[in-house]
Amino acid sequence: MSYQFGTNWATFSDKAGPVIGPLMGYEVLTAFFLEAGFLGIALFGRQRVGNGLHMFAVAMVAVGTLVSATWILAANSWMQTPAGFAMNADGQFIPTDWWAIIFNPSFPYRLVHTVLAAFLTTAFAVGAVGALHLMRDRDNRHARIMFSMAMWMAALVTPVQIFVGDLHGLNTLEHQPAKIAAMEGHYETQRGAPLILFGIPDDEAEETKFALEIPYLGSLLLTHELDGEVKGLKAFPKDERPPALLPFITFRVMVGLGVLMLLVGLWSLWARFRKTLYTSTWLHRAALLMGPSGFVAVLAGWYTTEVGRQPYTVYGLLRTSDSLSNVDAEAVGASLIAFIIVYFFVFGAGTFYILRLMWKSPTSGGGGELAGAPTRAAGITPAIQIEATGGDNAGR
Ligand code: HEM
Repeated sequence: MSYQFGTNWATFSDKAGPVIGPLMGYEVLTAFFLEAGFLGIALFGRQRVGNGLHMFAVAMVAVGTLVSATWILAANSWMQTPAGFAMNADGQFIPTDWWAIIFNPSFPYRLVHTVLAAFLTTAFAVGAVGALHLMRDRDNRHARIMFSMAMWMAALVTPVQIFVGDLHGLNTLEHQPAKIAAMEGHYETQRGAPLILFGIPDDEAEETKFALEIPYLGSLLLTHELDGEVKGLKAFPKDERPPALLPFITFRVMVGLGVLMLLVGLWSLWARFRKTLYTSTWLHRAALLMGPSGFVAVLAGWYTTEVGRQPYTVYGLLRTSDSLSNVDAEAVGASLIAFIIVYFFVFGAGTFYILRLMWKSPTSGGGGELAGAPTRAAGITPAIQIEATGGDNAGR
């Protein structure tokens, strides 16, 4: 992103730089150093520094990531709901109140929603690995701990996430009503608006085709009144509307996955109560299938947020089309292709490595410090845990 600010978004960087620049600078100063400094110890230092210091390093990586998320979400939220600035004669955003900039109206909701999303993503990834190894060996102690912790997280955090998501949506309705209209697939402003479950929003025809709807529920969810008024896209000038199709679809993907996460969480509670948490093959299959769900929900959420705030980079003030660098499409295309090639190998190698770690039984390799080790070790991510088991993982 930092790279893109310079190459593709030079006008945005010039205009919004006085606000965004320091926020990104704080991120690097406070967060990256913490994360990067301790990540090496977390991944490779366990045998060298001892359990206590190793645990501390892992915690510092987590804290660093959280601080990093805070700054970057403050920057993104400011672009969605700008506050605490004045404009100078060159049309630049000049900070007047940093407190208002950081704690802008959408920041608290976005921070909590995104951090919970990360917790859930982790829970379902770890849960899937636990489930995979339980399907192979129900008595695998490490797999049991992994699965149990992940399912606790899923059962406890998903309802909170859905509640926070609802509050987030109400806040968006207040500050970016056109985004909500696009997410809901509403073109007409109406009282007693339906909730459109499925359909195909068509911006040309200004209607959602093949709509399957539940009467009044749209108004009830958004205004908490049966006949509350909900604005449609036609209430906004055409050149201020976001394209509706993508946010409409991605919002449903996100919420649909949230509902599935809730069901798996509740199922795990039921299985725990019936003492079948480690033996229910169907639950393990479901958890395995849900392994990538968090990643997909997070991407869907970001598509909703970012496409829904079009056509602006700084909402209502700076248009996306006015934020671009003065470079040709070919140049943008070339740098994009370069990115795709480089990241294909970098992410490809990382993904391959992680999938291989996940595939191996947490007890594989035997010996090492984790054989019969304290259960606390399971609190560390499986990748790190396996790394520490030595044996055939050693030396990597
Ligand atoms: C099931 C109920 C959910 C509701 C009602 C909900 C609501 C929302 C809303 C309204 C937005 C857009 C806010 C805006 O752009 O201003 C959003 C964005 C987002 N959602 Fe959800 N969400 C739900 C579930 C989830 C789940 C399960 C995840 C991931 C595990 C998730 C991850 C995200 C992310 C990463 C964003 C983009 C960042 C942000 O704007 O907060 N959401 N969600």
